[in-house]
Amino acid sequence: MARTRRPLIAGNWKMNGLSKEGVALAGELARRMKAGPDRAFDMAVCPPFTLIGAVVQAVSGAGIAVGGQDCHAKPKGAHTGDVSAAMLADLGCSYVIVGHSERRTDHRETDAVVAAKAQAAIEVGLTVILCIGETEAERDAGRTLDVVKRQLDGSLPTSASAERVVIAYEPVWAIGTGRTPTTPEVAEVHARIRALLADRLGRNAAERLRVLYGGSMKPSNARELLVLADVDGGLVGGASLVADDFWAIAEACPK
Ligand code: PGA
Repeated sequence: MARTRRPLIAGNWKMNGLSKEGVALAGELARRMKAGPDRAFDMAVCPPFTLIGAVVQAVSGAGIAVGGQDCHAKPKGAHTGDVSAAMLADLGCSYVIVGHSERRTDHRETDAVVAAKAQAAIEVGLTVILCIGETEAERDAGRTLDVVKRQLDGSLPTSASAERVVIAYEPVWAIGTGRTPTTPEVAEVHARIRALLADRLGRNAAERLRVLYGGSMKPSNARELLVLADVDGGLVGGASLVADDFWAIAEACPK
């Protein structure tokens, strides 16, 4: 069956980049996108909050979407240091990552908090990149599929739809480590996520919703991951900071 979901390659810059290099990286990606308009993938970059405005300008007209890396669940108010979903949309973002494992760990974000953030983002028209994934201990204990189910049940908001949600399966132990699950392991989890989405949203929506893989995706392993039937793109950390590497990953998307 022909693939109906268009791959999305999203770069998660995390807490990296000052103005000069962030704008240069975004500008280089924009230049490459403009050079060949007929791409087999969608591209998004998620810079730190400080760079969003500049990156939106740098990629203007190139067909590259921009996203935040987090948002607050409330639309506004007394939350020093936080950023609302509406503020991201106001700057020109169309995506926001929620529930990344680094936020779940560093900021003790629970599934309920993640669901509230995702809901807030959808309400202002953003598309949520919702991250889930097991720790190494959970995988070793054979609990990967249970963990993924629990996180999906708990953090997928009630307003979720194929148009407004992208799932990113990111095994915590694969993030930034250079290690990845085997392709059968990735295929198994993605198939399970697709089945869980069908239970929750119906088969039709589940077939349209994109499920990305994330965790040490790089040019040398991108192709074998991106050709898997239920892998609809990648959420790329370290390799998204190097234009050549990020571009090579995007080009590895099946046509
Ligand atoms: P990585 O990060 O590609 O550096 O492993 C992925 C992520 O955390 O989104």
